[in-house]
Amino acid sequence: MRWILAQRPEGPYAPDLFRLEEEPPFEGDLAEGEVEIETRLFLCAPTMRNWMDAPGPNLYPTVKLGTPMLAPAGGRVVASRAAGLPVGTDVTCLGSWSQRLRLPAAACVPVPAGRSLVDAMGRFGINPLTAWFGINRIGRPKAGETLLVSGAAGSVGSIAVQLGRLAGARVVGIAGGPRKCDWLRRVAGVDRAIDYRAAPIREAVAAACPGGVDVFFDNVGGETLDAAVDVINKHGRIVLCGQISGYDGAPMRGPANMMRLIYGSVVMTGFLVGDFADEWETAIADLDAHYRSGAIAYRDDLRDGFEALPVHFGDLFRGANSGTLLVRTHPGASVAAAA
Ligand SMILES: NC(=O)c1ccc[n+]([C@@H]2O[C@H](COP(=O)([O-])OP(=O)(O)OC[C@H]3O[C@@H](n4cnc5c(N)ncnc54)[C@H](OP(=O)(O)O)[C@@H]3O)[C@@H](O)[C@H]2O)c1
Repeated sequence: MRWILAQRPEGPYAPDLFRLEEEPPFEGDLAEGEVEIETRLFLCAPTMRNWMDAPGPNLYPTVKLGTPMLAPAGGRVVASRAAGLPVGTDVTCLGSWSQRLRLPAAACVPVPAGRSLVDAMGRFGINPLTAWFGINRIGRPKAGETLLVSGAAGSVGSIAVQLGRLAGARVVGIAGGPRKCDWLRRVAGVDRAIDYRAAPIREAVAAACPGGVDVFFDNVGGETLDAAVDVINKHGRIVLCGQISGYDGAPMRGPANMMRLIYGSVVMTGFLVGDFADEWETAIADLDAHYRSGAIAYRDDLRDGFEALPVHFGDLFRGANSGTLLVRTHPGASVAAAA
């Protein structure tokens, strides 16, 4: 089976943009260097909502109408004409919402021996890595500085706040609702948590950051970015990780207070986790050490059901995920380490 993008979103995301259909057989034989993968796990990433839009002047991919939805996927090689990826190897890839994929071996990343697919796509996957590079290579918060993180209880944000705490910064996290704010204070160890649904964001950020903000790690954009810019300190750094408030129909816009950025000599840097692929192993080793020592808490939100993929995906825009949103194809799908 596969999920086809049948229409483009007009307004807020709805799962009925997709149509479930039987997969046609692959055309021709497997070519030299190709593998066939039985998918078992999918990562729901907010930016996939951007990929559903019509092509525009952007640098991200867009899905052609009538084709399977592009998605980060993991699965097991079930047929191979690639020496390095024998049958039985677990791999991750940029695939699609399909139960079978045929891809060049070069487009697949083998999961290290002894590691499960869930861990490869979760605690060592692109979201914690994004947090690691955004904090350690771009924002570089230091002891005594204030780090503000939006989307702070999410998959990327929850790791960003904890790396900031370990760097010695005073950390303020912004999240939706008392349950997430409580988790940020009790488990992630932030100094202050702001529930952006409970109070106007500008006033709340100003009150929680009386000494201003030195580093703003932004997953949200819009009004939240405006609130942070209004209190950004001289030589502040703004890490542009994501803009989720502008993905799902609301207009995406930059900060209003441009003069504060100029007079503050503020650096605002966009980045992709892929920019740092050469350093991924370094980051994974560092995260692993923090997970093992208990210095960083990590949460997967593991769901089941290939048939429910479009519904699970929508939870990202309702704040209804608690950690990295991963969907197994079916409850029995083996996502443990390959034998
Ligand atoms: N640059 C990169 O390479 C890279 C890589 C991965 C992810 N990202 C970006 O990182 C961000 C977080 O991604 P994630 O996978 O970790 O997702 P996540 O934070 O685990 O889940 C999304 C969360 O965003 C919040 N949200 C949804 N709509 C919102 C809105 N209109 N305003 C404010 N908050 C909203 C919700 O949390 P609340 O309940 O707190 O509202 C929701 O739970 C996204 O912007 C994503 O595009 C960037």
